[in-house]
Amino acid sequence: MGVIGVLTAGGDCPGLNAVVRGVVARAVERDAEVVGIRNGWEGLMEGSTMPLDRDSVRGILGRGGTLLGTSRMDPYVHGQGLSSCTSTIQRNGIDRLIVIGGDGTLRSALQLAQEGLPVIGVPKTIDNDIIGTDMTFGFDTAVQVATDAIDRLTTTAESHNRVIVVEVMGRTKGWIATYAGIAGGADAILIPEFEYDIDEVIATIRKRHRRGQHYSIVVVAEGVVPPPGYDPPKKKTDAFGFERLGGVGYQIAAAIEDMTTFESRVTVLGHIQRGGSPTAYDRVLATRFGVTAADFALDGLTEVMVALRGTAMVAVPLEEATSGIRGVDEDTYATATTFFG
Ligand code: F6P
Repeated sequence: MGVIGVLTAGGDCPGLNAVVRGVVARAVERDAEVVGIRNGWEGLMEGSTMPLDRDSVRGILGRGGTLLGTSRMDPYVHGQGLSSCTSTIQRNGIDRLIVIGGDGTLRSALQLAQEGLPVIGVPKTIDNDIIGTDMTFGFDTAVQVATDAIDRLTTTAESHNRVIVVEVMGRTKGWIATYAGIAGGADAILIPEFEYDIDEVIATIRKRHRRGQHYSIVVVAEGVVPPPGYDPPKKKTDAFGFERLGGVGYQIAAAIEDMTTFESRVTVLGHIQRGGSPTAYDRVLATRFGVTAADFALDGLTEVMVALRGTAMVAVPLEEATSGIRGVDEDTYATATTFFG
């Protein structure tokens, strides 16, 4: 009936294994074969694959990470596109590919599809910033981790009369910060989509002090700029040239402490938001994405991404899904700001 290749690329994300399990289970049900490609595009370019049958995906539904491995290698940055992948594709008889990844990965998936390989994308990122889908899998887990952290940091901030700046992931968009900030009752939330004024943040914190609340929680997305007069964290890149973020919370806390003299501490949550077991919501969403991706692939669709719209699984053109990055809308952010201070 056909051979589906499946790969996971870019940063890992809770629910990746659930997607792969979903792909394999539906493919097996429809008498198709699945070949797992190891370490993202790297495995497709360098011929590293593993057979996937129903037994090989047992016991992984609730496990974090990805049994296939992942990397930030890219066939269009580190190779010549489809021609760099053809020997692996031909050797394994792969006639359609399911690509589980974020915006960069999905852009390469689109290019491969345009070169003639049937490709289905699955939107993966804890950042929840992919166009065309109401939600990506992994986001709910990251929000839950960040909310738990905010709850814990609130009680210690209150006990010590401190300001605590909680820095969460979100390269260019502040979905995790906004949702976890709302869920955790943050006193200020700073995200890249909306310019912030440090004087307003400080006025909010001072107002709380005047009211007798001598502690505050400020949630910041890692992608925000530091306050004027404070240097941004040193830029570092990984082996693939991907910029590493993290650390802007320290500049924000320094500005708050300098301007108020209130003791200000920082917690950078980092990869704890990406590792570990997916929430029940993410397990279900990832499973639905995987099963639907297998159906789309076996039904002969290509150049589309599986997406959640309302409660339905739909096909969205990869061209549309990769046309930009989806940011937090004004209404959602206004819900958060209602509770500032
Ligand atoms: O894109 C998802 C993401 O989790 C970002 O929020 C974060 O900046 C990035 O990945 C970190 O990636 P890495 O672990 O490769 O540094």
